[in-house]
Amino acid sequence: MTPSTQRLAPAETRILICDELSEVAIETFRTHGFEPEVRTGMSEDELVEAVPGVHAMVIRSATKVTRRVLEAADELRVVGRAGVGIDNVDRQAATENGVVVMHTPLGNTVTTGELAISLMCSLSRHIPRADRLTRGGSWKKKGLMGTELTGKTLGVVGLGRIGQVAARRAIGLEMKVIAHDPYISASGGESPVPSVELLELEELLKRSDFVTLHVPLLDSTRNLISAERLALMKPGARLINAARGGLIDEAALAVALDEGRLAGAALDVLAEEPPAEGHPLLGRDDVIITPHLGASSHEAQENVASMVAEQISTFFLDGVAHNAVNAPAVSAETLREIAPYVLLAEQLGSFLRQRCEQPVRKLEITVSGETEGAAADYLSLATLVGLLRSAEMGANYVNAPLLAAERGIRILNARDEDAGAYQNLIKVRASGKGGDESHVVTGTIFGRSPRFVRIDDLHLDLDPSGHLLMTQHHDRPGVMGQIGTLVGGSGVNISRLELGSNEQGDSSLALAFFSLDRAPTDGLIQDLRALEAIEEVRCIEL
Ligand code: NAD
Ligand code: MLT
Repeated sequence: MTPSTQRLAPAETRILICDELSEVAIETFRTHGFEPEVRTGMSEDELVEAVPGVHAMVIRSATKVTRRVLEAADELRVVGRAGVGIDNVDRQAATENGVVVMHTPLGNTVTTGELAISLMCSLSRHIPRADRLTRGGSWKKKGLMGTELTGKTLGVVGLGRIGQVAARRAIGLEMKVIAHDPYISASGGESPVPSVELLELEELLKRSDFVTLHVPLLDSTRNLISAERLALMKPGARLINAARGGLIDEAALAVALDEGRLAGAALDVLAEEPPAEGHPLLGRDDVIITPHLGASSHEAQENVASMVAEQISTFFLDGVAHNAVNAPAVSAETLREIAPYVLLAEQLGSFLRQRCEQPVRKLEITVSGETEGAAADYLSLATLVGLLRSAEMGANYVNAPLLAAERGIRILNARDEDAGAYQNLIKVRASGKGGDESHVVTGTIFGRSPRFVRIDDLHLDLDPSGHLLMTQHHDRPGVMGQIGTLVGGSGVNISRLELGSNEQGDSSLALAFFSLDRAPTDGLIQDLRALEAIEEVRCIEL
């Protein structure tokens, strides 16, 4: 089910914090008038019971927002992740259900990069094992001979935010840093960290004394460090993972360590957390394991808690989804500026849904005038939302592109700087399969109010709000009188009439749009259709 897009007052908004978060989150929500509920450590069954009626879920990495949870959450509008990785949210199901998924990508970057460096230092000097031995009463150096970092090569896999922090710190330790990031390389970009050479993964593995992983867990990165890639690593190298379990084939890593090909590994994350008893990497002297501590510093937790609470509050108060991974990013200021055009675009889409006889297969949207970039894209999306927002389809700004793709609707967007006599115009053409049926509607804003200025070949000035009655009829004397009599006789008032000939087809046909003060009854529609001169009657709600 798709949640409604109606605004909610803070007092009516139910926000459920599902994982342990800094108190800062609650304080921040309160400053905006929200009172969140806190229920942590819920199983999937418990979540399914808890989420109906909830408008926002706030999570860290423990809560799994599965399809079952999302489908039970009948009012859910947003999932806010206090952290970076969103692999614990079924993003596809969230998008299908029109739920915004947002994260806080900057809050724990430094802290996690620092953990990777701490793990590297700990590995190189056996610090955890030395501490365990001393606590056990030993005061011996045997078996604790370390390795200097200075002059060694660190291979950073994933040179994004955290990878860059790790790389910069390692350069400070006088290490040579190399990196692999296919997205930076593919865009022809230079390394974002000076002096860091970008290489293919295989080359990086062969050359590195230490390898640290900083890539997201995706289908394409699962088991990135496979048995074959482990075999490429330099003999005696060490592997660090403070990104995600699932990036490394853990069984193959245990074999590589057993065979002495690798000297050690430090893992903050595992494929299964917490690991099952008897996990092949637990309890080994050459492996350091920490319980997903990457973001666990006071600073990072306060950052992500306040960021997620600010973002969710802004989402409910201003309708802006910052750091959303499945919704467009438009600033509150832009959204305020283009608000009348957003309404117009939705009305244009909605008009065409009701105007077209056949299912729409192609939508051509031309935004003309001063609107640019993200704002123009947002208006295209708003048109699509209008087209697909029927009771059955329930489209919103998250799921509309997906719904369009599922229905085989092609979207063609165009920009034109010249809007003629207008400041801005939005022109939309909807066509059925094979282009058999095609209708155009063009709108603009007068003052702050939407206006349709053209429908097919009819130039008009139509206020597209409320109940619209469209007739297509033979252009003969007396026909308008017959229509007016029937409409008036049914007790419905005509507030405005726009009339023109339909030059598209039969020139003897006229097109009329009556703005009505209330919806016409079925009886009135039937009576109108029964008029001899009438070809088409359509009732359009905007
Ligand atoms: P980011 O998006 O800034 O960087 C990820 C980088 O990985 C990008 O530059 C991307 O191009 C690159 N990449 C994607 N696929 C790749 C591949 N196959 N090979 C090499 N590079 C690839 O993200 P970030 O903020 O740096 O975070 C990275 C990951 O760290 C997150 O996705 C999250 O899972 C994890 N993380 C873990 C903790 C923790 O507590 N241990 C904390 C924060 C983040
Ligand atoms: C993240 O992706 O941000 C990490 O998993 C941090 C966390 O929430 O513990």
